[in-house]
Amino acid sequence: MEWWKKSVVYQVYPRSFKDTNNDGMGDINGVTEKLDYLSELGIDVIWLSPVYESPQDDNGYDISDYRKIWSSFGINEDMYRLIDEAHKRNIKIVMDLVANHTSDEHKWFEESKKSKDNPYRDYYFWRDEKNNWGSYFSGTAWEYDENTEQYYLHLFSKKQPDLNWENPVVRNEIWDMMKFWMDKGVDGWRLDVISSISKYTDFPDYDESMGEYPIGKYHANGPRLHEYLHEMNKEVLSKYDCMTVGEAPGSTVENALLFCDKDREELDMIFTFDHMDLDKKEGSKLGKWDLKELKLTDLKECMENWQHGLHEKGWNSLYFENHDQARVISRWGNDKEYRVECAKMFATILHFMQGTPYIYQGEEIGMVNSDYKIEEYDDIEMLNAYKDLVVDRKLMDKETFMKAAHTIGRDNARTPMQWDSSEYAGFSSVEPWLKVNPRYKEINVEEALKDKNSIFYYYKNLIEFRHKDDVITNAGFELIDRDNESIFAYERKEGEKSIIVIANFYDKEEEFELEEKYKLKDYNEYISNYKEHNIEGNKIILKPFEVIVMKNY
Ligand code: NOJ
Repeated sequence: MEWWKKSVVYQVYPRSFKDTNNDGMGDINGVTEKLDYLSELGIDVIWLSPVYESPQDDNGYDISDYRKIWSSFGINEDMYRLIDEAHKRNIKIVMDLVANHTSDEHKWFEESKKSKDNPYRDYYFWRDEKNNWGSYFSGTAWEYDENTEQYYLHLFSKKQPDLNWENPVVRNEIWDMMKFWMDKGVDGWRLDVISSISKYTDFPDYDESMGEYPIGKYHANGPRLHEYLHEMNKEVLSKYDCMTVGEAPGSTVENALLFCDKDREELDMIFTFDHMDLDKKEGSKLGKWDLKELKLTDLKECMENWQHGLHEKGWNSLYFENHDQARVISRWGNDKEYRVECAKMFATILHFMQGTPYIYQGEEIGMVNSDYKIEEYDDIEMLNAYKDLVVDRKLMDKETFMKAAHTIGRDNARTPMQWDSSEYAGFSSVEPWLKVNPRYKEINVEEALKDKNSIFYYYKNLIEFRHKDDVITNAGFELIDRDNESIFAYERKEGEKSIIVIANFYDKEEEFELEEKYKLKDYNEYISNYKEHNIEGNKIILKPFEVIVMKNY
């Protein structure tokens, strides 16, 4: 079996993880320093968000030199040492491949914009006319360049021009760069917005009814996408023992297999957004900021769909949090009186599914969202949207926007890691680049490590189970009582072996009766977030956010 099918990945967002040179910014040596902590947790792989030279317009997702570490994070040798030290502890390192676009300060773009006949001109998309495509970071996706009197395409900020993958020279540059890092020992890639690398090069306009700056089907899954990924596999990936996970906005269960069906020789798995979009109003002109309440039945159906769709054909990546998503307990749960129970409940639902689980830094200690003022945030996506929707176009009032920002804004996940209760949470000895969450005295690693019942040790158990128990890796998935609006219950079954997960998704006590075909008396407790249970026969009264996992073997 491929090693990544038994692995648990931990995502590090380096600028917020640990600052060792006390400039308020995390660094590579900070990750190396904390490897023993990660070993204790038991994870197998670190996915490192971008660490390359960058003007940091989008916190490193705008790269100006792919082969050099950003000076505030350290030097290349620090990175090589991190790879080495991680390997000594049996931890693999996955880097972020941000190749849909570069920084406008990358030398390719600096050349490209010099003149229409520059040899690098065709590394990017230049057009005389712009279409109506919107940028993910607000406004139009085209920027006019006075010098050559043409527009260039940027699906993200104007400092992130999109690379032209139609050009085989560009693709070869990317393959070489990937080999550069893999030859240094890197064990795989998380591929940033990989579903967007092939463009509809006739740049069709979206329907006007979609608003001023639409984002939709033409932004992803272009006609040559899978040809490029197959080429990447052939030229690079197939030559190494590595894992790959593609970030694939706009993917559906149906097209997910185009990426991760083994026989197609492309990627190992993808990140879908299906489940993370369930609290957003589809097609809203306010984009992601137009929220609605999450319906548990929608979440169950969505996750079931992916579990079934990829079973034995592809492979799921399992996540609720990352550097682009808010803290799940604040977003969909309760981060106050039931913070600990709730964090364990979300972890359990996810970690007993089939796929490779991803833990985002701080998730393992139950870090929470931040309700800062707009001036205290840093995220380009949020600040641009605020200016566009609230200040300029006045499509939203400030209060509604801030409510959404506090619920789903990306900076909620990017506040500095909370190591202890000292000033700046032990992240740094000087004021960090983004304000520390005020709850750091209560929520931090030091406290978690002292308490055997902490969220940390619960995660540690979940990781151990995945390593040891092949039922978790292989078994099929069936929802139980799919229409139940409060309980998330499912079975994993392989032959005679069965695991049943029953979770109360809300803060009210709930009575639940398992169908007769399950005989709870034949099961023993696997793990739970409460010590005592109220079970009689097949009937359970679940306390707020109670989750109980049972197995019959
Ligand atoms: C997805 C990344 O996860 C996000 O942080 C970034 O802003 C965009 N891609 C652009 O690279």
